[in-house]
Amino acid sequence: MYNSLIRPLLFSMDPESAHHLAMRLASVAASVPFGHHLLAGDLTENNKGLGRETMGLRFTNPVGLAAGFDKDARYLTTLEKMGFGFLELGTVTPRPQIGNPRPRLFRLPQDKALINRMGFNNDGVDAMVRRLEKRRNNAIIVGGNIGKNKDTANEEAYKDYLICFEKLYDAVDYFVVNVSSPNTPGLRSLQEREPLRNILMRLQEVNVGRHNKPIALKIAPDLENSQVAEVCELAIETGLAGLVLTNTTVSREGLQTQKDRLEAIGAGGLSGKPVFERSNSVLGLARQWLPKHISLIGVGGIMEPKDALVKFKQGADLVQIYTGFVYFGPGLPAAINKLILNGYDID
Ligand SMILES: Cc1cc2nc3c(=O)[nH]c(=O)nc-3n(C[C@H](O)[C@H](O)[C@H](O)COP(=O)(O)O)c2cc1C
Repeated sequence: MYNSLIRPLLFSMDPESAHHLAMRLASVAASVPFGHHLLAGDLTENNKGLGRETMGLRFTNPVGLAAGFDKDARYLTTLEKMGFGFLELGTVTPRPQIGNPRPRLFRLPQDKALINRMGFNNDGVDAMVRRLEKRRNNAIIVGGNIGKNKDTANEEAYKDYLICFEKLYDAVDYFVVNVSSPNTPGLRSLQEREPLRNILMRLQEVNVGRHNKPIALKIAPDLENSQVAEVCELAIETGLAGLVLTNTTVSREGLQTQKDRLEAIGAGGLSGKPVFERSNSVLGLARQWLPKHISLIGVGGIMEPKDALVKFKQGADLVQIYTGFVYFGPGLPAAINKLILNGYDID
């Protein structure tokens, strides 16, 4: 039904409006009795074969929602009913911000891709905390993906990460430090060794005196291999629980979409199928360089169930999806989990 009816309807609309409409419709479906059947999430319920223990947390299944989809923690129940094992919320910043002017999200159907330059539009950390306080016990695992406000200078960025960290501390199960979005000017230079060490050390100083929550770091696929190696060293040095690999790319290489269309779209992060190969190789390198106790969350270009298995083979402990969810539909998490239950053969 998604392919024949719903996707054509949504794809006829502006992508950002389609996103909000789709989630509102899904929330209605989730609220009716047996709504989880409509949302395809029933397969994963109570299925012990899918459970994973990693980052010191128990996941009911290893398929998560990537950051950016539910930036403000609005759709937890609905997304849980779609069969996800965990949700990464955000990116959230200390103060609310409206993000870049619209249009700022574009489809590239020929490439099974999206380009976005949202620019961390979000309601701010206080609003997220209020919504998460209503969360019931034993609900789905949630990660808080934290960032800095656009008008915070990079030298002061650690303060923004600290504010989000402290405020969300009791509301989420793990954290992701996002220094890799291309749409906040200068953010990605925080991936360099010294600024990154400063942010991570300051978070850990607060963390060790409390519950030692798992902290992961999300990096860009555009880093050189030598920079990925540096990040891995830093992950060990600063006691990270995991890495999220990867964010969107600024590259436009190898796309089918016409050059003039790409030029008209302009700047932004590319996601979906074109980012699959590079994010897989970053994942593979990290697995090679990191001890097993540091978890890897593989994200980038999972467009159909078997793509997720490639990431597990490359060393991912967990996977996440965003663009594939838009193209394949809400059945993707359940379809990946079904494949996992049927055995791990990707050839
Ligand atoms: C519209 C859109 C908004 C996004 N916003 C965020 C964000 O706020 N924070 C973040 O860490 N990643 C964000 N991402 C990146 C995704 O979480 C993911 O890393 C990337 O899209 C690659 O996965 P995919 O190919 O499955 O989409 C966003 C992606 C898209 C398409």
